[in-house]
Amino acid sequence: MSEEPKVGGPMILMRGIRKSYSTGRVEVEALRGIDLDIGGNDYVAVVGPSGSGKSTLMNIVGCLDTPTSGEYVLSGEKVAGLDRNRLAEIRNRHVGFVFQNFNLLPYASALENVELPLLFAGAGARERKERAEEMLRRVDLADRMDHKPTELSGGQMQRVAIARALVNRPAIILADEPTGNLDSASGQGIVGLFRALHAAGQTIVMITHDQAIARLASRIVQIRDGQIVEDRQAAA
Ligand SMILES: Nc1ncnc2c1ncn2[C@@H]1O[C@H](COP(=O)(O)OP(=O)(O)OP(=O)(O)O)[C@@H](O)[C@H]1O
Ligand SMILES: [Mg+2]
Repeated sequence: MSEEPKVGGPMILMRGIRKSYSTGRVEVEALRGIDLDIGGNDYVAVVGPSGSGKSTLMNIVGCLDTPTSGEYVLSGEKVAGLDRNRLAEIRNRHVGFVFQNFNLLPYASALENVELPLLFAGAGARERKERAEEMLRRVDLADRMDHKPTELSGGQMQRVAIARALVNRPAIILADEPTGNLDSASGQGIVGLFRALHAAGQTIVMITHDQAIARLASRIVQIRDGQIVEDRQAAA
């Protein structure tokens, strides 16, 4: 089901990525020429002011949207210009998403939430259960598997969402403001978990506008007005 990421070349290669939206009479240039390489096993924080294009970039990286122009190669596949079905296929195979508001199914247990992507992928009941349990143990929720989202703290809900993002063994985890709804201690916990996953080989790209959170990544890419204005290794 899941293919090994290609060894060698970058996992993400973007050249001259532009994205415009036309809404009524206004044309917004959300991205204005992004060149970005992200290697396998990078842990990148994308920072920048509100409206600078972070989520737009993330949606393109995650194959939820396509650029207006430019070249994008994900794990050796040319993504720009593919149709929706092919895009969905690449997304399901390569990308795990984590969102600010967790996006968990409210009436399903933690275990059932994590099993869901495997259900869509056609895995059998036993494999689903085993792999979902394994992922929940990885995010330190072995004792919360049967809890529903309302019976969990925000930090725990986000851990369930991360387990769900990981369960299909994606090449890359994309997180858009994963700590945005958490208090600072829970937020640090989530970033600590990302560090551990990164140490175990996972590629992670995380949007945040919290500098303290960004500093815990290994690389910080700063966006302003749809362009990368700084790209540096983090001190930590
Ligand atoms: N679907 C859309 N249609 C029209 N304009 C859009 C759309 N999505 C984003 N934009 C515009 O593109 C620009 C970049 O938006 P984006 O959501 O990428 O910013 P952001 O950096 O994620 O901001 P925030 O930190 O507030 O989440 C903004 O000016 C926004 O208004
Ligand atoms: Mg955003």
